Amino acid sequence: MMKVLVTGGAGYIGSVCVEQLLERGYEVAVFDNLSEGHKKAVDPRARFFQGNLGDRTVIRHAMGEFRPDAVMHFAANALVGESMQNPSKYFRNNVANGVNLLDMAVEAGAKKFVFSSTCATFGTPDRVPIDETVPQIPVNPYGESKLMFEKVLRWYGEIHGVIPVILRYFNAAGASGRFGEDHRIETHLIPNVLKVALGQKEHVEIFGDDYPTPDGTCIRDYIHILDLAQAHILALDAKAPAHYNLGTGGGTSVKEIIETCRAITGKDIPAVVRPRRPGDPPRLIAASDKARSELGWQPRFQDPRTIIESAWAWHVAHPNGYAG
Ligand code: UFG
Repeated sequence: MMKVLVTGGAGYIGSVCVEQLLERGYEVAVFDNLSEGHKKAVDPRARFFQGNLGDRTVIRHAMGEFRPDAVMHFAANALVGESMQNPSKYFRNNVANGVNLLDMAVEAGAKKFVFSSTCATFGTPDRVPIDETVPQIPVNPYGESKLMFEKVLRWYGEIHGVIPVILRYFNAAGASGRFGEDHRIETHLIPNVLKVALGQKEHVEIFGDDYPTPDGTCIRDYIHILDLAQAHILALDAKAPAHYNLGTGGGTSVKEIIETCRAITGKDIPAVVRPRRPGDPPRLIAASDKARSELGWQPRFQDPRTIIESAWAWHVAHPNGYAG
């Protein structure tokens, strides 16, 4: 069975992918510095290397010990707002450290490289749904750093013969039974709404209700992390470099998410309207036909309700996240 090294395997999406790989019989090693991830989110069936991608010696050691056939690269910084304050952190961690990883993967003979990219590489697109032909024009250093690494990967594919598969997620949400979303600084909508339902926050903030959308709030394409994990596993079989946008193709507004959370949790969930958050595009929806036809990807959770139900179950079971 194929051996897969997963960077960021202690993080939200990485931990679920590790779990799903192990469940399908892959041999897995996690490489994570635990700056964003959690030790308890590392599946105990995986080997664990704690290390920093800024340190080529540590990566070389992990690659030499584990000898992966494939690398899945989740480790990154992913806060748009922070990237506007501290671009250096994003270009160092998401680009320069990614190059370290790639060099060490090439040296160790790993052939496949599955990369977590983002719809933020498209910036504010002039058309939705967003398929792979929409021009990539990022509007913040986070999106730019991910696009830069997509380009690095293409050159490594051409020159070194690694097979990069670039997966651009829309809004990852939900939980598996064991692993869920626990960020030290939580900026995402669904966990913040659920924290209000748990009584950990007084109200949820709605960032802008004057957008050109039916109810005035931003529309996003929420995709279940188990469906994302399925796409990553299918990507391991790719025979040639490829890139895919991953979403359900459906759009849900901020107000609709809050309403659905009220219905699921049975809690009031007070909401307060605040000014727009800088850099938020009004509407981001994926066209994922390419992933469906080429990878055979079939997302199972099309309804935001089922996605939120899984997130709620996890938050109820882990009210303090991994700290509990
Ligand atoms: N929002 C609120 N209140 C909150 C949190 C978010 O109203 O407390 C709104 C945001 O303004 C946005 C929507 O809910 O309109 C979704 O926000 P998230 O922060 O949950 O997600 P984003 O769409 O901003 O971010 C996602 C990924 C990023 C990626 C980005 C690309 O999480 O990694 O899409 O635009 F960069």
